[in-house]
Amino acid sequence: MHIDVYNGPNLNQIGNRSPEHYGITNEMIQQSIERTADKLSVEWDLYQTNYEGEMIDWIHNADADGVVLNPAAWTHYSVAIRDAVSLVEYPIVEVHISNIHNRGEDIEWRDRSIIAPKCIGQVAGLGVKSYELGMRAVHSELENRDD
Ligand code: DQA
Repeated sequence: MHIDVYNGPNLNQIGNRSPEHYGITNEMIQQSIERTADKLSVEWDLYQTNYEGEMIDWIHNADADGVVLNPAAWTHYSVAIRDAVSLVEYPIVEVHISNIHNRGEDIEWRDRSIIAPKCIGQVAGLGVKSYELGMRAVHSELENRDD
């Protein structure tokens, strides 16, 4: 089994972004994914892009059985990413480092995801653990589909 993790825009800068909301580094994300993959005995790749078209191509052509997707800012408005997620058959779990449902900001769109309804589920607010739980959810879904 192979699980890909796709990170969207500005997540390459996560170590330098709002520590009150994120407070983790890319190295920590990678370590969490690696540890989880070892426990689950799955293969994995982690990719990050700031380009929407590139993310859409990855979703269309994923060389994986399932995907953990952090669409970052695209979460809140990208119909194109939503459409790409809609048209593939493999399971996708949306993850967020921060709890988009409770960030204490005066931003009315932050808690809205237009991607999540097209995913098998969403994990938000658990920092690096969001990636671990996202991978576990994809893994479990794939095992159930095999039964
Ligand atoms: C994020 C939450 C988004 O609202 C934000 O635009 C991000 C990161 C998260 O992982 O918490 O870039 O997806």
